[in-house]
Amino acid sequence: MAEALIDQKENTKDIKGKSPIITMFSAKAKLHTLSRVFRDLPALESVRSRFQFKKDAQSIKQIWERGPGNKVIINGWINRKPRKVGKELIFGEIRDSSGDVVQVVDSTSLLKNAAVEDVVQIQGTINMKRSKSSDQIPELEVKLESLSTLNAADKMAADLQDFKAKGSYPPEYRYLQLRLPKFQQFLQKRYELSKLLRTKLDHMGFTEVETPILFKSTPEGAREFLVPTRKTSQDEPTFYALPQSPQQYKQLLMASGVDRYYQIARCFRDEDLRADRQPEFTQVDLEMAFASGEDVMKSVEQAVVDAWSQLSHGLSTLDYRGKIVPVTATQPIVRMGYKQAMSQYGIDKPDLRAPDLKILDLSEFKVIGNSNKKFSVFEVLVLRNAFDTKETYDKNWSFLSDSTNYNYRTPKVVPIITEDDKSKWFEQFLSIAAFENPKLVAKALNLQPGDIICGSTRQNSRSLFENPTPLGRLRQLVLQSNAYNGQLAKEDVAAWVVDFPLFAPVEKETTEIDNPDYPEYLEDVVESSHHPFTMVNLRDYSKLETNPTQALGQHYDLVINGVELGGGSTRVHDAKLQEYIFKDILKIENPHAVFGHLLQAFKMGTPPHAGFAIGFDRMCAMLCGTESIRDVIAFPKSVTGSDLVVGSPSTIEDDALKAYNISKK
Ligand code: AMO
Repeated sequence: MAEALIDQKENTKDIKGKSPIITMFSAKAKLHTLSRVFRDLPALESVRSRFQFKKDAQSIKQIWERGPGNKVIINGWINRKPRKVGKELIFGEIRDSSGDVVQVVDSTSLLKNAAVEDVVQIQGTINMKRSKSSDQIPELEVKLESLSTLNAADKMAADLQDFKAKGSYPPEYRYLQLRLPKFQQFLQKRYELSKLLRTKLDHMGFTEVETPILFKSTPEGAREFLVPTRKTSQDEPTFYALPQSPQQYKQLLMASGVDRYYQIARCFRDEDLRADRQPEFTQVDLEMAFASGEDVMKSVEQAVVDAWSQLSHGLSTLDYRGKIVPVTATQPIVRMGYKQAMSQYGIDKPDLRAPDLKILDLSEFKVIGNSNKKFSVFEVLVLRNAFDTKETYDKNWSFLSDSTNYNYRTPKVVPIITEDDKSKWFEQFLSIAAFENPKLVAKALNLQPGDIICGSTRQNSRSLFENPTPLGRLRQLVLQSNAYNGQLAKEDVAAWVVDFPLFAPVEKETTEIDNPDYPEYLEDVVESSHHPFTMVNLRDYSKLETNPTQALGQHYDLVINGVELGGGSTRVHDAKLQEYIFKDILKIENPHAVFGHLLQAFKMGTPPHAGFAIGFDRMCAMLCGTESIRDVIAFPKSVTGSDLVVGSPSTIEDDALKAYNISKK
């Protein structure tokens, strides 16, 4: 406490003699606040009972074990409004922290004034509940003997009861939502998973090392969050950046002689939010010295498979025939090349719970995309037996043609409704594709009434950068739709995706959709497909000079159910090569100013190394069987990046900003 006071005092001797925090409040406002505090101080007697309670309480689970006749003390919340059922008899419900609920029978009107979500401690005796019929399993209840209200809830908590039934509260009341058993279980499972992974990595010889949160702005991929400081450099304000990942520090740890590093690390990215993205999220980040990507993939696979078998029903993958099978010692997670994933599933994170739902490139039937030279491949996805009548087609599948569901070109979707359509369907694709022998294609596809054929163009396999392709996106929509859901395998199906292009052309920005020319790319500008520290495949080394976008990188992603669970790579550890990549390929003007720390470390004896990062929130969400990572994060941000519980981000007063040498324009 004394230290804290000294610290506060130090703070007030801030530059220009003012603390940014103190200056946020005027002296007048402070006095006013103090006088209110005195006037409103609650009487000690009204407060005392809230702070004095018995410590030997039991959970509701424990009282089931104790059985009838035993005295119990339970801490919890009034779960629903108590019901008066007789002159002197009230039925109530208490819920404890685990979300378990017990009925409370009150014959002394203790519950008369109890309100929903009041925090209470009750004492009573366990009773056998009277069951309506003899074959019902008898339940226990508590005969109430005393009740102390440790904190009464206001009316708002009761007003929000309807949300409790729905399981979804307005986000500003996240703490009410977290009291629900489902969310308690999610938090518990998250904790179990972190324990399990820590133990597993510990057994594998990894050491947990924390790396700084106040980092430096470097172009690593996503947009960063900046933290203003009070220091200036040549009269300019200076900033830290929050780390997008501990990537550069973990590579510096390799230079520091740490052999196997891991960290359950907080990462920050200022990017558009989706169900599987948060601006602040957690990675299980790891790196291994004197190791290759193969070694890392093996370690990650062990940890992930173990987690799935301990916290879920085990992990599956595809065997050599493409059938879903459990991952075992002799059946490791399947490897799939980027090109295969893109051409068969139209995306680099294929959902393999429907392995046979594949996209077909019709080039071998001499069908070519004709709307734009850039998209010379014409491909189709056939949904067999997808509808009964025109009406059921319209009702269930019209979303497939909704252009707002696609980034750029919207696929054409043609239902086979009549016998005639079996041979005429191709006419509907003539605006985007040329067919040399439509009859041959029709014969091969053997379409039947009730089928849907979806078609679109894509780039050829040598420059397949649009990800997902229009049909890849359509396939995602199909799998997410209720219309298809029944045909998705129940297993969690994993694949390693490998052989990614190391660099990709940079897309021109546009807000236009459904334009046959998009995406378009900037000339002679490339970006790293993942990050600039990934090593090239040695057989493609010379392409770094001649044609970088044709070079494949030593990157690997672990994909489960169409979600990228994590990614990693073998790293560059050669200073000259890294500098070449920064300067000559990525055109970073002064790589020493931003990445000098790494380049210098590479020059001073950094061993070869490779690593990986698991998206911990995504892993938790999958193991909890929920779609959104928000469900498994205690206080997630909203879609606009706000924390609606505390009201962040918030504005800062001019005076406080001045201390950071920032002014509002
Ligand atoms: P990458 O950027 O692929 O790699 O991130 C690794 C994993 O982190 C998860 N992830 C996210 N989870 C929630 N919200 C987000 N905004 C978010 N962004 C990423 C994903 C992803 O697969 N440093 C490298 C790893 C390495 O090369 O070792 C990195 O961060 O599950």
